[in-house]
Amino acid sequence: MNILILGSGGREHSLAWAVLQNPKCDKLIVAPGNAGIAAIADCASFDINDGAAVVGFVDENNIDFVIIGPEAPLAAGVGDDLRAAGVLVFGPSKAAAALEASKAFTKEICDAANAPTAAYGHFTDADAARAYLADHPAPIVIKADGLAAGKGVIIAETDAEALAAVDTMFDGTFGDAGAEVVIEEFMDGEEASFFVLCDGDTVLPIGTAQDHKRVGDGDTGPNTGGMGAYSPAPVLTDEIAERALAEIIRPTMAEMAKRGTPYQGVLYAGLMIKDGAPRLVEYNARFGDPECQVLMMRLGAQAFDLMHAAAEGRLNEARVNWADDHAVTVVMAAQGYPGSYDKGSVIKGLDALPEDSRNMVFHAGTAKKDGAITAIGGRVLNVTARGDTLAEAQARAYEMVEAIDWPGGFYRRDIGWRALS
Ligand code: AMP
Ligand code: GLY
Repeated sequence: MNILILGSGGREHSLAWAVLQNPKCDKLIVAPGNAGIAAIADCASFDINDGAAVVGFVDENNIDFVIIGPEAPLAAGVGDDLRAAGVLVFGPSKAAAALEASKAFTKEICDAANAPTAAYGHFTDADAARAYLADHPAPIVIKADGLAAGKGVIIAETDAEALAAVDTMFDGTFGDAGAEVVIEEFMDGEEASFFVLCDGDTVLPIGTAQDHKRVGDGDTGPNTGGMGAYSPAPVLTDEIAERALAEIIRPTMAEMAKRGTPYQGVLYAGLMIKDGAPRLVEYNARFGDPECQVLMMRLGAQAFDLMHAAAEGRLNEARVNWADDHAVTVVMAAQGYPGSYDKGSVIKGLDALPEDSRNMVFHAGTAKKDGAITAIGGRVLNVTARGDTLAEAQARAYEMVEAIDWPGGFYRRDIGWRALS
């Protein structure tokens, strides 16, 4: 098959790496890709959020199957445009991707599906939001309704912070994403990510992971897109995973189907776990980044068969071949991230590192300039290793990190700490 992957992050590098291991892949193109992806596949440049441009590229290049990595093309309806053109695609429709694109929609679906989640109010004007806060003291969580690149969530520790957050949301800081606001009960507990594939009907769990959202060691400092991940996440025991499927995920998928907007693709459920019970924090309509990197490292070539089965509606006959292993990915980011950072610093030492089924450096914000790998983004490398134990995978990942010569970068030194402590 000729396969096209849309995206340019470490997530897409790991998807490309897994797809290329599968003998069913004859040709792989990634758009737009990055320097690491360009080393293993062809890269193409066009607007991946423009459905007509994607359909045009698919026609010209005889693409049989499209895998959509990031949320933006999903929310723009690129999946719908491809399906309308008769192209096989992995990724939800625009209507189904609303599970990520609108927090108010997700809360309403959870109500309909009776899925445990935080109590909430939904507001389109600041006065009503302030009135709600008067009855709901801090700690409390204020969220912009729409996609805000992970920045639209404010956890207010005091009532004054909560009021200030409401003002920020409605003053246009988050653009259209903040025109509607969800205010939510603060849930404490331990967070973990649960990944399932869905073909509109069957739900197939494919793994658990835990991200590290804060920039600093010990989960300190501002939030980021994710500074590292490991899989599996032991806090998500088989029993809790079963409960999450039975109480949250299957009822949500059934409700989506009932409404005539069945969900097809990967569903990433962010769960808060407390006293053995899971509650939903959020859904994402795509793989997590960097969680995808550890999942792909563990699944390998079968990841392609599973995504293909989801796209063709055959998940009822699919099986996941679990290995009893662990994977860790450490994000190397540009100094200054998640604030402003310099671009163009040179990264050395990558060539000496092994690239095999247990060790991979997935690239995120990299480009090749004058023969050198340079940093062009905030999150730049995802140094990923597999081991028989989490400790072994962690030690191996950090060994590789230390072999990379990049003075312009930094990383967290404690990826995996919750599971290891
Ligand atoms: P979201 O964009 O909804 O994933 O929120 C980003 C992060 O904020 C989550 O991963 C949680 O760490 C935190 N968060 C969101 N909602 C809540 C909540 N109701 N209670 C506690 N933490 C939350
Ligand atoms: N790593 C968090 C996310 O992809 O949303």
